[in-house]
Amino acid sequence: MNAILVKLIKIPKKEVLLKRVSSLFIENKSFDKTRWISYRKYATCNMEAIRDPYRRHLFDDDTLYNVYKNESVNLSVGAPGPDLLQNCVELMRKATDHRLKAEKDEGKYYLFQYGITAGLWECREELSKFLSRRYGDPVKRENLILTCGASHGLTLLLNTVLSPNGVIFVEEVTYMIALDSFKQFPLMKIVIVPMKDDVVDLDAFEKIVAEEKCNLNGNFLTNEQKLFWAMFYTIPTFHNPTGTTLPPESCKRLVEIARINSLLVVCDDVYNLLHYGDGLPPRRLFFYDQPTDSEYKGGNIVSNGTFSKILSPALRFGWIECSPQLASIFRRNFMQWWCS
Ligand SMILES: Cc1ncc(COP(=O)(O)O)c(C=O)c1O
Repeated sequence: MNAILVKLIKIPKKEVLLKRVSSLFIENKSFDKTRWISYRKYATCNMEAIRDPYRRHLFDDDTLYNVYKNESVNLSVGAPGPDLLQNCVELMRKATDHRLKAEKDEGKYYLFQYGITAGLWECREELSKFLSRRYGDPVKRENLILTCGASHGLTLLLNTVLSPNGVIFVEEVTYMIALDSFKQFPLMKIVIVPMKDDVVDLDAFEKIVAEEKCNLNGNFLTNEQKLFWAMFYTIPTFHNPTGTTLPPESCKRLVEIARINSLLVVCDDVYNLLHYGDGLPPRRLFFYDQPTDSEYKGGNIVSNGTFSKILSPALRFGWIECSPQLASIFRRNFMQWWCS
């Protein structure tokens, strides 16, 4: 029985309960029968998950997110199907062989060493070429910081450049896991921004920002690293869940509002390259914050990107595209080191 339970413990979710059951056995403590019955219910439920090969591998056994049902297209999660993921096999094999051969030939094995905080130079160089081509707009290597995906990028931004007692503005409907990230920062105030025609209502946003700034009355901590008193988390291109894209005129206005109010706008740019039709995708909001603008304030927009939607979520590989000022803060931040 213990052996089964130990196996079950490895299955995510309800694992705490199961751990408790196993510790009751290990420590030979007594437990009452009703509690055991409810534990068994969980154990049985996980046994089913073990037998079902899809549930065993997907999203902590949440059937809602099963993207492997042939009879339906699951729109509740942005995850690639096996028809796309199959390409990763050959791609990863070739890339690994190529890279490991280079390591051996060179004899320094830098790949296995602590890297540089912004991420491998060559990787950022290739990424900048790839993004420049796909966006149709130059992306500079020195503006890129490698991350373990957009979720990590968001946490990094919250941890690094936002005031610990600042404000997070967020659209009234948004990506649910971003909200989970915000919950990890209980001293930050979360303020909901209304939407109009499925995009952020900028008139309302402007008013709310002014109100919050006035309420705080300078009572927030900012310093040479934590530059921003507030952040606006948004998905301006192919919004999740509405699917809408912020029109160019609104993009310009949002940049203006951010500059005037010293806000950081964090764009969850995870779907930008998944556009249908010919030509280039809509311009990312970052494009509208040009250093050559007379109103430029050192960079108020960040583009938080990922390979999860265009290659594989399991690789946990993404990037932050930001101003040189923010990039230099990240380079000095050793927290970033462990995943570059
Ligand atoms: C809007 C949005 N942001 C971020 C993510 C997750 O990205 P990553 O896998 O790079 O953490 C998703 C995935 O569904 C998403 O829809």
